[in-house]
Amino acid sequence: MPMNLRGRNFLRELDFTPAEISYLLDLSRKLKDDKKVGIRHRLLDGKNVALIFEKPSTRTRCAFTVACVDEGAHPEYLGKNDLQFGKKESVKDSARVLGRMFDAIQFRGFSHRTVEELARWAGVPVWNGLTDLWHPTQMLADFQTVIEEFGHLNGLGFAYVGDGRNNVARSLLVGGAKMGMDMRIVSPKDLFPEKDLADTVKKIAAETGGKITITDKIAAGVKHAKVLYTDVWVSMGEEAEWNSRLKKLRPFQVNQQMVDMTDENDMIFLHCLPAFHNHDTELTKTEGALEVSEEVFEGPHSRVFDEAENRVHTIKAVMVSTLGA
Ligand code: CP
Ligand code: NVA
Repeated sequence: MPMNLRGRNFLRELDFTPAEISYLLDLSRKLKDDKKVGIRHRLLDGKNVALIFEKPSTRTRCAFTVACVDEGAHPEYLGKNDLQFGKKESVKDSARVLGRMFDAIQFRGFSHRTVEELARWAGVPVWNGLTDLWHPTQMLADFQTVIEEFGHLNGLGFAYVGDGRNNVARSLLVGGAKMGMDMRIVSPKDLFPEKDLADTVKKIAAETGGKITITDKIAAGVKHAKVLYTDVWVSMGEEAEWNSRLKKLRPFQVNQQMVDMTDENDMIFLHCLPAFHNHDTELTKTEGALEVSEEVFEGPHSRVFDEAENRVHTIKAVMVSTLGA
């Protein structure tokens, strides 16, 4: 279906229709196929793109950079010490300056209000590369990976296990409702998504034929899930919660026993990354695996590196559809 997203921001899934999300996923697949056989489009030729990062990033930063260069745009990285953003200059003023110089802006940071404010005043498309509330470009890459495996999203059992109220969980929940999926959040009760959001996604699912389950019962929550998904238990900015989260979330580790509970031989495991799955990071040197066991992370069901690669193609789809010629 032809779709015109030119000039649109990409801030959160709630702003997009199922048809628009499908369009972005189809476009991403086409751009991926073309890149694999060496077809280059240069759909962003001559554009300048600001990449603002208040928080660290490997995948998102690199995906935006590679997508820009693939399509002929110039990416300019602005780290947390490079801007006066909100400290010596208001977000509103910074937005109006950047909007005069750049053709689009990516923002990764803390408050979702900041990216909304940027979008309100910049006068150019603004893309959300993660805020405390949403991670919409991640959702696109995750769903593309699911489609590559199963060919569809509609009706598919998808269980997100862990911190049910973080940015990734919230984006997947809304995305899943929009795409008519059998979407489950499996987490301790005090980490369930907020009631307002739960009510909203249930309404969306009633229109799309999707199903929403929010539960702390692991066995029922993961049964017949084709996708088991987890994310870190402590998101960026929540470091003070480390000990209490580990204690609370240990029973929710994705491990072989949980994989077996799905009772689906062809299920896949996804994680947005970075992941704590062994002793190889400073933070888990003594603890070892947290949200996912080494066995599952490195095992035959894991698709986490396909998923990471898909960040480039899906981000490129967002960029060319909102900014392209
Ligand atoms: N998944 C993700 O957003 O990774 P980065 O934090 O490395 O960008
Ligand atoms: N929920 C995580 C996602 C990292 C990509 C965080 O916000 O730190």
